[in-house]
Amino acid sequence: MILVTGVSGALGRLVLQGLSARDGTEVVAGTRRGDGTTARRVDFDDPGSLPTGFAGVDVLVMISAGYAEDDVVLARHGAVADAAAAAGVRQVIYTSLAGSGGCTTLALPHRWTEARLAAGPFATTVLRNGLYAELLGALSAGAAEEAAGTGVFSAAFGTGRMSVVARQDLADVTVRVAAEADAALASGGPGWHAGRTYELEGVTALGGEEVAGLLGERYGRPVAYRPLSLSDARAALAGQGLADYQVAHTLSLLSNTGAGFLRARRSDLAELLDGAPRPVDDLVVSAAHNA
Ligand SMILES: NC(=O)c1ccc[n+]([C@@H]2O[C@H](COP(=O)([O-])OP(=O)(O)OC[C@H]3O[C@@H](n4cnc5c(N)ncnc54)[C@H](OP(=O)(O)O)[C@@H]3O)[C@@H](O)[C@H]2O)c1
Repeated sequence: MILVTGVSGALGRLVLQGLSARDGTEVVAGTRRGDGTTARRVDFDDPGSLPTGFAGVDVLVMISAGYAEDDVVLARHGAVADAAAAAGVRQVIYTSLAGSGGCTTLALPHRWTEARLAAGPFATTVLRNGLYAELLGALSAGAAEEAAGTGVFSAAFGTGRMSVVARQDLADVTVRVAAEADAALASGGPGWHAGRTYELEGVTALGGEEVAGLLGERYGRPVAYRPLSLSDARAALAGQGLADYQVAHTLSLLSNTGAGFLRARRSDLAELLDGAPRPVDDLVVSAAHNA
């Protein structure tokens, strides 16, 4: 049996949908607000919820719960590793962060979690997810709104680009890996994909010039890219009501884009998808207008 955590979130919901649509795959949902009827209660901040949440689970799809300060995320993910071991989970599939993001502040809790899971008694599979196209759209949202009026898209991407991927592609890979692992365990063998780390980097890289071009197509008029400094970006973020850790992560993403680090050199995505990765342009533009 497979359990997917975080099914109220965008990625967890897609993974649950994909697994539920497969004949012969037994899947249960986990979420902080589960009532034990349609979904189990699985709250990483409440370790007491995890023994019941993980009971009878062979394959745990652990959706990272990264929206908090690092100490909170480490405590959450450590509690999951302990509870999965105690419950006899046989394989944990963890949604991590792609290698290109290794110098961002986001990487620390992910790499810590990878190491913590690797020390557990279960098999692990690490899905190092690329940055969502929807995330690049969200990072561009305020500037896109301004560009609609001024024809100038001001953002702190420097001259770098970010490799981005459709969240649905990441969900599709997760579904495949989880279903194959579960089927292999059910037939008495070791879980497929055990001990593997997959780099699910996007295969399209977009920067300020490209986003400005896409916005121009949407608005039916030219939009020019004007690079902002990181200190201007920091000042703009200060007024947006974000938590301090969100400001730090956002600036880190911008700074890593400018440095050229977020442009991926290789990806396992196409190999694990049934077809080519989905196009990302429309996802970026619509997320920039719906963030
Ligand atoms: N690759 C990227 O570009 C990127 C971008 C943003 C975030 N991420 C990471 O990927 C994860 C999934 O992304 P998403 O788009 O689905 O995010 P999302 O829609 O904002 O969902 C947040 C997720 O965090 C879970 N969560 C929060 N606190 C939790 C807790 N105490 N215990 C268990 N689960 C908890 C939620 O589960 P519930 O169902 O319990 O609410 C939900 O699955 C995020 O949590 C974050 O770590 C990746």
